[in-house]
Amino acid sequence: MNPAYTHFQPGELWLDNHGVHINAHGGGILLHEGRYYWYGEHKIAGTEGNHAHVGVHVYSSVDLLNWNDEGIALAVSPDPKSVICAGCILERPKVLFNELTGKFVMWFHLELKATSYSSARCGVAVADRPEGPFQFLESFRPNAGIWPLNVAANDRQLLRPDELEALHALPLYGGPIPDYPTNSIYRRDFEGGQMSRDMTLFLDDDGTAYHLHASEDNGTLHISQLSPDFLKPAGIYGRYLAGDFNEAPAILKRQGRYYLIASDCTYWDPNPARSYVADSIWGPWTPLGNPCEGTPEQKETTFYSQGTYLLPAPGKKDRFIFMADRWRSENAIDGRYVWLPVEFEGERLVLRWRERWSLDDVNP
Ligand code: GAL
Repeated sequence: MNPAYTHFQPGELWLDNHGVHINAHGGGILLHEGRYYWYGEHKIAGTEGNHAHVGVHVYSSVDLLNWNDEGIALAVSPDPKSVICAGCILERPKVLFNELTGKFVMWFHLELKATSYSSARCGVAVADRPEGPFQFLESFRPNAGIWPLNVAANDRQLLRPDELEALHALPLYGGPIPDYPTNSIYRRDFEGGQMSRDMTLFLDDDGTAYHLHASEDNGTLHISQLSPDFLKPAGIYGRYLAGDFNEAPAILKRQGRYYLIASDCTYWDPNPARSYVADSIWGPWTPLGNPCEGTPEQKETTFYSQGTYLLPAPGKKDRFIFMADRWRSENAIDGRYVWLPVEFEGERLVLRWRERWSLDDVNP
């Protein structure tokens, strides 16, 4: 029997209804008809667990503390020819419910098998029930052939051959580089579609959904509106914070303003989080600095974790939970979850370490 949890205990083992550590990394949460559904990467033991061998796992809960295993929502395919074959990289799945179609729509980061992280695609799957099974629809690089909203007319041009050559000479490996080209990569990728790695989905109050993704070799964040059925990009997107190298985007809306928490790009190693605020989802996004308060080590490592989702807290207006992963890349299945309440201090978002906390501890 599993214990009945009464408190969140960041970084500890977190057992499901079968007494097994929850296996939903890089996850996100859907609230549907009074039940929470936690979708995340199912990891296996060892370093091979950093590849997708099972798929997306889903759990459900009414209190966010005690989770029932609902099984595999989206399974990877045993067919080596499948785009989502076992051994691919399938990360950071997020699910929304679409009111117009009555379908549950999942987006995730997909790297085709044996391409390391060079595919930089997103994948889309759909289901009739929140538990799935989700049917994989397609994968692509978003917004092919479309210029970003916030690019001036004279920058809406393909790269010249000499510019392309200069770009090829740069060591663009997904992490910060000193002379990151802030105005070239979206032009290089115009025809084939924009790169899409770490990602989240966001459903605004007016029913419009957005895909936020690390793009342009991780150096620039893209925010891309989804079609009314949430299955495709709507063809309206902006590029933000070029050169900031934001990964692990997570977003919330409070009192009409949008807040973003993201990380730096250091693979599985933790780094200092950053936060931003904007009056419109289309920016401008103003930096609010590192939201973490605590010891220098806690601030430098985001409590030894990397964000994945910002969840509105139940029953509390304007209260949110920051969900993060404490990765264990050498034994991926043992990755832990760090959930902390988000505090607001004036303009700032603040995260503080708590060993053990409950929603009652969070001030209204
Ligand atoms: C992290 C990213 C993870 C995963 C990892 C691979 O920076 O946030 O989702 O892609 O890199 O090294």
